[in-house]
Amino acid sequence: MENRVIIGGQWGDEGKGKIVDALSRDVDWVLRYQGGANAGHTIHIGQEKHVLHLIPSGILHEGVRCLLGGGMVIDPWSLRDEILALEQRGHEVRDRLHISATATLLMPYHKRLDELRETRLKRKSIGTTGRGIGPAYLDKIQRTGLRMGDLLMPTENLERKAIEKILSANEILSEFYDAEPLPARVLAEELVVLAQFVAPMVVNPYDVLRPVREGTETALFEGAQGTMLDIDHGTFPFVTSSNSTIGGALTGTGLPPRVLGDINGIFKAYCTRVGNGPFPSELLGEKGDALRDAGGEYGATTGRARRCGWFDLVSARYAVDINGMTGVIITKLDVLDDMAAIQVATAYELDEDEITTYPVLSEALPRCRPVYREFAGWEKPTVDCRRLIDLPAAARKYLEFLERELGTLIVGVSVGRDREQMIWTETGVTT
Ligand code: GDP
Ligand code: IMO
Ligand code: MG
Repeated sequence: MENRVIIGGQWGDEGKGKIVDALSRDVDWVLRYQGGANAGHTIHIGQEKHVLHLIPSGILHEGVRCLLGGGMVIDPWSLRDEILALEQRGHEVRDRLHISATATLLMPYHKRLDELRETRLKRKSIGTTGRGIGPAYLDKIQRTGLRMGDLLMPTENLERKAIEKILSANEILSEFYDAEPLPARVLAEELVVLAQFVAPMVVNPYDVLRPVREGTETALFEGAQGTMLDIDHGTFPFVTSSNSTIGGALTGTGLPPRVLGDINGIFKAYCTRVGNGPFPSELLGEKGDALRDAGGEYGATTGRARRCGWFDLVSARYAVDINGMTGVIITKLDVLDDMAAIQVATAYELDEDEITTYPVLSEALPRCRPVYREFAGWEKPTVDCRRLIDLPAAARKYLEFLERELGTLIVGVSVGRDREQMIWTETGVTT
């Protein structure tokens, strides 16, 4: 297989984990390039369900090597729990899991600061996952944070450094937020123990990725979150703190653009968002509830009910364009199986005008009203379809419309949560 980048095309939770798992069998490497334990990537294999937050979704394939890239923010407490949970279920992990020394270390005070900041923002809160993502990236950008490579320093130095950082975070906690300080010595000692656990996995990414750079080994790049949550290109400020778009795959691994290969955007056949911020095609009330029930739309990380709505072509075309997607994969088509009618937002109404170009300044977005086009539902199960011709005609018509409007080929359609429930179609869906 060629190298490929998997990017969320909407507001996250598009089914990236399932797709990365399905594609991992034939690659040497799976590389996570941004984000942290805010991600929740779900994989179902038969009766087994895994939710991965930090570990790349290729880990369930023996022999595939996985890297937590330098663009990530890594909470070593969560990472240890995730590794042990996989090992308890019989998956060998530590020999194949590598952690970039340049990744940012996420500490308990980042999580605490995330929670306190959200509480303080009240009605203006972002609705973060509470995993400390914003504060950890802040420490990186302002050049004060620790990195995973720092876990390799001699124990006394690490302990001293950690105490220093925790005490300085405690000043903010008590002075700005009037909150309890964190127990510096206890946490620093825990970190020292964790450092011994993760140290054997910490690598120099420039060295280990040499074969990928030179083209002798293949890589699948696994994005977290989605295009509309990107810090630069998403619905700012209701976004995450990293580049979940294509640039993140480069800066988050240190690999050059020529190795990226295909760029595949993942889109649900409808749309969801978890957390606050504009969502033009959101369905409120019973219609939204129906979609949530059909799709089991509850957050894999926080368990929050996801907001649900129809496919939004305006933001989806934007996602295709800014990432340079060479193909897209539509997931959860089966969730629409029982719907009598399906809508797609083809344009927005904005202050009396009809626009089809995504307004990048998100101030305009809350005023955008979707313009829908309606499709007849197929009202037949698609879960056993494995070829395009197995799909009901109305489902094919819906996919052909999306393909035409997105201006790029649909190269895969997912019709269920299991690895095998896929239709692969390298030549697109239009016959
Ligand atoms: P990710 O964050 O993009 O990896 O997506 P999540 O794992 O957060 O959410 C996607 C959810 O949809 C998970 O529960 C998956 O098991 C499930 N899923 C993925 N693809 C399909 C599909 O084609 N059909 C159905 N019914 N469920 C799917
Ligand atoms: P995966 O990889 C969906 C959302 C949060 C919040 C905003 C900022 O599973 O698709 P953060 O904790 O990152 O500071 O929260 O981003 N968010 C996600 N929504 N899927 C995710 O990841 C998300 N990661 C963050 O809900 O609105
Ligand atoms: Mg998710």
